[in-house]
Amino acid sequence: MRVPLETRNDICQNSPRKKQSTMTVNESTAPAPSDQPAPIHRRRPRYSGKYPRKFTEKYKEHSPERYAETVAKVLASGKTPAGTHRPIMVEEVLQALAPVPGDLAVDCTLGYGGHTTAILEKIVPGGRLLGLDADPLELPRTESRLRAAGFGPEVLQVLRSNFAGLPKALQQVEFPHANVILADLGVSSMQLDDPARGFTSKFAGPLDMRMNPDRGQPASRLVEKASVETLATLFEENADEPRARLLAERLAGKTFATTTELAFTVRGAMPGVDQETRELTVRRVFQALRIAVNEEFSALENLLRHLPSALAPGGRVAILTFHSGEDRRVKKHFAAGLASGIYSEISPEVLRASPDERQANPRSSSAKLRWARRAEATEIG
Ligand SMILES: C[S@@+](CC[C@H](N)C(=O)[O-])C[C@H]1O[C@@H](n2cnc3c(N)ncnc32)[C@H](O)[C@@H]1O
Repeated sequence: MRVPLETRNDICQNSPRKKQSTMTVNESTAPAPSDQPAPIHRRRPRYSGKYPRKFTEKYKEHSPERYAETVAKVLASGKTPAGTHRPIMVEEVLQALAPVPGDLAVDCTLGYGGHTTAILEKIVPGGRLLGLDADPLELPRTESRLRAAGFGPEVLQVLRSNFAGLPKALQQVEFPHANVILADLGVSSMQLDDPARGFTSKFAGPLDMRMNPDRGQPASRLVEKASVETLATLFEENADEPRARLLAERLAGKTFATTTELAFTVRGAMPGVDQETRELTVRRVFQALRIAVNEEFSALENLLRHLPSALAPGGRVAILTFHSGEDRRVKKHFAAGLASGIYSEISPEVLRASPDERQANPRSSSAKLRWARRAEATEIG
């Protein structure tokens, strides 16, 4: 009996780790041995109309290995197939990190594993990569895909961890230091596009926004508990929102169960304002809440603080940011590290995605890349 490919991720997720690491694509589709329970057959989702529209209905996009043609068409149209993520500025990241065989690498934000795959290809033979991600839902899917692509535990270790705890994660996998560290901040397309995660106003879903739904409070609770003052500061600092006070007055202390309820109220708070500005404001409000819910700035500050001791002498770090608040912090940290001699070299200016990439993947438009090189001579402390 053939294992239906639609269920492959679930099967991989539930498999013991050792088994995952040795599984190949062919094995996963091979007839089930007779002593194994038969896999559960799942029907493809039903949808109205000719094409699936909802995230969960796009079963072909969720199985790129089976429906390569459909996925290619989606990519060619400048969209990201549902349940996947396109890595941004891969060539520029590789140039900045210059990974070589034998390197110890850390991808602080594993996501879909696109950057990890590109780095892994450069550090074998002899190298190892530690992939971290805070998201307990996407992480096992990504690990299964990477194992199926042939990256066993001898080259790739995966930990569900916030990158704020980088030193502990390094200790756990017995990395004395890293030659290469990457952080590609923010959320993945899988997280953004899944209505159940509540990250965007584009789809109706619970107002959650947690990368790790097992920790902290959902955005709905934050808004409900926040004072006008707190919310206004949050909109200003996390999203440079010019109508921060007005919006905070409308939203603070209110209950919004869904993403669309919140977006509706934000739009309604700006009568007479043109539609484009209203939609931009909605996006900024969502961004500000997401940053707060996931404590993204303090996680980044902790990561930056740990970099000098985590990097080997001569080691390289690259950070992709998507918001001025993040870029400011990275720029300041690298400049201070250069001045104090911790870093021997930093990116002279911020790097941006090429016009071609921006066109092919609009999500790359706001990306900013900076890198730094740990000095050889200074003590790691
Ligand atoms: C933009 S995506 C990374 C995409 C990845 N580079 C790829 O090629 O697929 C960002 C990822 O980082 C994770 N993340 C964000 N902040 C984090 C943190 N503080 N610690 C660990 N993971 C984090 C998110 O859960 C998400 O999966």
